[in-house]
Amino acid sequence: MTTALNIVVLAAGRGKRMHSDLPKVLHALAGRPLLGHVLDTARSLAPSRLTVVIGHGGERVRAAFDGGAGDPVPIRWATQAEQLGTGHAVMQALPELDDAAPTLVLYGDVPLTRLATLQRLVALAGDSKLAILTAHLGDPTGYGRIVREGGSIARIVEHKDASPEERAIAEINTGVLVLPTPFLRRALAALRNDNAQGEYYLTDVIGIAVAEGLAIESTQPDDNWEIEGVNSRVQLATLERVHQHNLAADLLERGVALADPARIDIRGTLVCGRDVFIDVGCVFEGAVSLADGARVGPYAVLRNVTVGAGTRVDAFCHLEDAAVGASAVIGPYARLRPGTRLSDEVHIGNFVEVKNGQFGRGSKANHLSYVGDATVGERVNIGAGTITCNYDGANKHRTVIEDDVHIGSDTQLVAPVVVGAGATVAAGTTVWRDTPANALILNGKTQVAREGWQRPVKKKG
Ligand code: UD1
Ligand code: MG
Repeated sequence: MTTALNIVVLAAGRGKRMHSDLPKVLHALAGRPLLGHVLDTARSLAPSRLTVVIGHGGERVRAAFDGGAGDPVPIRWATQAEQLGTGHAVMQALPELDDAAPTLVLYGDVPLTRLATLQRLVALAGDSKLAILTAHLGDPTGYGRIVREGGSIARIVEHKDASPEERAIAEINTGVLVLPTPFLRRALAALRNDNAQGEYYLTDVIGIAVAEGLAIESTQPDDNWEIEGVNSRVQLATLERVHQHNLAADLLERGVALADPARIDIRGTLVCGRDVFIDVGCVFEGAVSLADGARVGPYAVLRNVTVGAGTRVDAFCHLEDAAVGASAVIGPYARLRPGTRLSDEVHIGNFVEVKNGQFGRGSKANHLSYVGDATVGERVNIGAGTITCNYDGANKHRTVIEDDVHIGSDTQLVAPVVVGAGATVAAGTTVWRDTPANALILNGKTQVAREGWQRPVKKKG
């Protein structure tokens, strides 16, 4: 088998039926642009050259994927100014191709092709044959049909050019093919556009291969969703569900308990230990890891988060760029914002927001608090309604709460401020100066009672 490989990804199409200003290949599936999925799979084939043909919105596409220096296989960009057909699109990539290696053509809007399927196709083609990925569809309408003679592929006829007999053929062209590059150059030079769409069809190279006596191989994907493209938001939503179903099935296979595999969304990578349980409606974005025995309650959103062993994230939590230790309890209704680092056995309860806050082992903030830009020691208890006043209108300041501090309810901590170890802050205190350790901290206040006080009454008329 050959080692070097050119890959050409066609991504110049307009995507008119998306009814969107965003170029079609930038629409997201599982949180990543369609083209990103294709490029990931392409890169897994270790191509020697990777070329993407762009047209509509090309600059935006390019900006989204240019890896800069350090990219082992940098993308070569080819521009197709006018969309004159798939054959014409591949022509724009010809200057980028290495004749010593075969060329694999992929579509930028077909995101879910399995690596194994493409490996099979590339192996079939070797250095000297043409290999084409075909599929059998119950409804082949719209696709190019594979016309076979005596069992061998003779040509491809586009739906719009096909006779009624040809339209009855269920075997279709997926668009994915591998072919020797010198042959590709010759065949593209011979293409004509005298067809129903007035386009240069890449598919016409099949007939040319047959005429030249080039051997043609074909194989099929295991599942037809592998070859489905996105032309509309309906198709995008359908493929999203297919993909999410596959990801969920994979988690179940690995021993993760899902309350309902149809109600989980993974937009990135989710790594789980043993005996992890995930309830319905959770969304995982970026890189998320859940250690052994972690449990995530319903409708939680976790974005770039690590969760330690045995930790519970209860219903309706929102966690972003945060690390949670082992045996912690988060939520329900907790929000952890970027920079949050929680040690083991920390409890963050309902309607508590932590931003860039670090909590030591066993510390708790269970109700209705804002803890921002704060360093919290071990075994600290933060009472309900505590607010770190971290922002003076111009700059952010840190609050330091040392080990074993107890903070009473409805306390304001005006940063920068340090609450010394073991201090007790009385309920309703405004702390604006550093406090000594082990002291009781309170503001001088008086409580007044006016006996016989009459409430105002509403005036008549
Ligand atoms: C193409 C195939 C058809 C196959 C079908 C599979 C041809 C002539 N027909 O048809 O046999 O069954 O795909 O989905 O190849 N593109 C460009 N520039 C162009 C035209 C297309 O970059 O000028 C890109 C599109 O962005 C898309 C891909 O090529 O990613 C396929 O184009 P599309 O218009 O969908 O081709 P079909 O007519 O559907
Ligand atoms: Mg199409």
